[in-house]
Amino acid sequence: MTIRRLAITDVRNLATVSLEPSPDINIFYGKNGSGKTSILESIYLLGMARSFRSSKLKPVIRNSSQSCTVFGEISQEARSIPVGVTRTLEGDYQIRIAGETVNNVSSLASILPIQVINPDTFRLLEGSPKERRQFIDWGVFHVEHRFLPLWQRLQKCLRQRNTLLRHGKIDCYQLDIWDQELVTVAKQVDDLRSEYIERLLPVFEQVMAKFSNVPGLKVSYYRGWDKDLCLSEILRKNRERDINSGYTHAGPQRADLKVRLERMNAAEILSRGQQKMVVSALKLAQGLLFSEISNRPCTYLVDDLPSELDAEHRQLLCDTLESMHCQVFVTSVEREGLAHQWNEKTQVKMFHVEHGAVSCSD
Ligand SMILES: Nc1ncnc2c1ncn2[C@@H]1O[C@H](COP(=O)(O)OP(=O)(O)OP(=O)(O)O)[C@@H](O)[C@H]1O
Ligand SMILES: [Mg+2]
Repeated sequence: MTIRRLAITDVRNLATVSLEPSPDINIFYGKNGSGKTSILESIYLLGMARSFRSSKLKPVIRNSSQSCTVFGEISQEARSIPVGVTRTLEGDYQIRIAGETVNNVSSLASILPIQVINPDTFRLLEGSPKERRQFIDWGVFHVEHRFLPLWQRLQKCLRQRNTLLRHGKIDCYQLDIWDQELVTVAKQVDDLRSEYIERLLPVFEQVMAKFSNVPGLKVSYYRGWDKDLCLSEILRKNRERDINSGYTHAGPQRADLKVRLERMNAAEILSRGQQKMVVSALKLAQGLLFSEISNRPCTYLVDDLPSELDAEHRQLLCDTLESMHCQVFVTSVEREGLAHQWNEKTQVKMFHVEHGAVSCSD
């Protein structure tokens, strides 16, 4: 998938921006506050119908506007698919794919799989397990079509079970039914997640070996309950506790990706630059595995690429992105920050961003 044309209306300080990106590397440079991250945010809106910076819409929509729109022409093999996403202040969205209105974001996400590497990337290591679960699920969703309905079934089951747990007088018969459903769905979700991680880890190790020498780094998958016990037994044992707290303690909703060094949480030991390389390696490994399985590349949005990285690591990150033959959008404050990192065969387009206006500078 390649974005051939991009038109942005009313995203942050971008009133109307229109550009024709390179299928390879696109560099946006400009002063602080000029609108570089907002361009990446707009591309993310096009693929996910939401922002990666804010869960609220008000800050994303340009002041005094009621809505924002991103339109893209996406080429997939020989086809060109027009895609448009509009979000309003009220929270409504309108998604159009190839002239049809679509009601779910998952159809959009499968057309334009996006990976973001930005200064918040550290959150993958430092943040809550939810961030790492979302990371795992991005991968499973994009390579395994059975995953989405199972994941939706799991959310429904947990909602029902938790509602019952909070319901003053406990209906044990109903609870037994939801326990059974949870055990069934949990096994399927866990199987898909663990198969995916098994495939991802060797790719991650290959990328990591090129990037940075962090001996003893171990990444492992935690399924959300004790590996030696079956979930039905745990649910039975935990029932009293679940009732007292009003939620389900064990299950795939607690899954995590543990990144450890010397048996400690890697986030507490690694330097900022090392953390950025580890997280970038995880995200690049996902992109590599995705294209190996689906034969399609994913789109990378890399915000403020040079930050926290020395010249050698910056080059290694650029080399890897370039070798993946995917479309990349990167930002940098300085034009020179990234201008010379690329192979001459790669089509590199430079865009200057100034007060919300974008001009192609070569
Ligand atoms: N809802 C909004 N309406 C109008 N302008 C906004 C809105 N939200 C943010 N801005 C402004 O948009 C500008 C672009 O912000 P953006 O984060 O894209 O800049 P940037 O080029 O990435 O800067 P930096 O180099 O500091 O990361 C900022 O000047 C910001 O104040
Ligand atoms: Mg920025």
